[in-house]
Amino acid sequence: ARPSRLALRGDLLDFTGPPAWGGLDDPAVRFRPDHWLLIEDGRVAGVQAEAPDASWTCEDHRGRLILPGFIDTHVHCPQLDVIASYGTELLDWLNTYTFPAERRYADPAVARAGAERFLDALLAHGTTSAMVFPTVHKVAAETLFEAGRARGMRLLTGKVLMDRHAPDGLRDDVEQARRDCEDLISRFHGQDRLGYAVTVRFAPTSTPAQLAMAGALCRQDASLYMQTHVAENRAEVEWVAKLFPEARSYLDVYDRVGLLHERAVLAHGIWLDAQDRAVVAERGAQVAFCPSSNLFLGSGLFDWVAAREAGFTVSLASDVGGGTSLSTQRTLGDAYKVQALAGRRLTAWAGLHAATLGAAQGLGLSHEIGHFGVGTLADVCIWDWACGPVAEARFAVARELHEKVFAWMTLSDERNLAAAYVAGVARYRRPGAAPVPPH
Ligand code: GUN
Ligand code: ZN
Repeated sequence: ARPSRLALRGDLLDFTGPPAWGGLDDPAVRFRPDHWLLIEDGRVAGVQAEAPDASWTCEDHRGRLILPGFIDTHVHCPQLDVIASYGTELLDWLNTYTFPAERRYADPAVARAGAERFLDALLAHGTTSAMVFPTVHKVAAETLFEAGRARGMRLLTGKVLMDRHAPDGLRDDVEQARRDCEDLISRFHGQDRLGYAVTVRFAPTSTPAQLAMAGALCRQDASLYMQTHVAENRAEVEWVAKLFPEARSYLDVYDRVGLLHERAVLAHGIWLDAQDRAVVAERGAQVAFCPSSNLFLGSGLFDWVAAREAGFTVSLASDVGGGTSLSTQRTLGDAYKVQALAGRRLTAWAGLHAATLGAAQGLGLSHEIGHFGVGTLADVCIWDWACGPVAEARFAVARELHEKVFAWMTLSDERNLAAAYVAGVARYRRPGAAPVPPH
């Protein structure tokens, strides 16, 4: 069969490595204005300035920005139903809004519809890869894997482990949970673009026996991912200290059972101390910075500079429903403001890198996603530079590249998305955002 050949024209932006902190003119930024991205059989085949020959199906998006699909390293599928819930901090918020919403996912029909709606929403926000929390119910993980497979997405998830301090209908037990994990791993891990993440909700909702079981799963198979929450909220940190008096710190609860490794993603990490940060770096784990959630739930301000100095990867995450938007630009806008409060500044380069190549490298997936290197899978998003008169006026006076991209990062959101491709297949198109017709 003839290879499928698709060429997308626009302003291509990606990264060849980590940009320096604070530099506006950075050699790691690869901007190729008005170029063609060539996609053959779902993979990036090259980039060129000239129009490709007639063997290529051409989509002309000149005047639009083309980026690698965003990677959201921490987000909760069932919590779309409680996004924007008023008036609580973490522990209250879980009991008042989140746990009741998650209980409904015991119903396979609710779980399936929720998974499909959630992944379609990610794609409509320009997020093509994600590490996702479903619920404690096996069927919620199953339906999410199936929906991810149907969309061809890079999706990392796993059944949530929680066997205490949660209401009826939301608890498992060690043995059943182990069997469910093993079955899900055998059916989905490494299939298509799916990966299994051992998913400990957080230390308070697992018994020591369950944490040990989760650590054993990771030790048995080093290709498994791990996701959890750590040191998000001060009341939570105090509770963990009471529940695990033998541990040096909240992070240490996970370290003692072998949950910290190169494929571990720890959400938040606001209240880690210097020794914890050194441990995260030593284990090769990463922290998912969730600024929207941290501000909305009043959790605190993550110290990205201390993380950089400790030497671990920081990725960006929406943490919906604690976070209030699936938009990576909104998340980056909040990240900028959190840094600004600490007297620091986040460049568009550092922010966009963290949401693309940086996250891909942190997950060990940079051979597949996060940039436009030849051979990667073509997860590609096409964005309008400006939507509406305010943004248009701002772009009319922007001169430098960083100025323009920073204004885009700060002013844009999912309404700017024209199209999203997953492995070269269009999975989202905004009505009315057609390519320029050939003449
Ligand atoms: N800690 C334990 N569970 C959750 C959750 O669902 N959201 C957030 N933000 N933190 C958590
Ligand atoms: Zn979370």
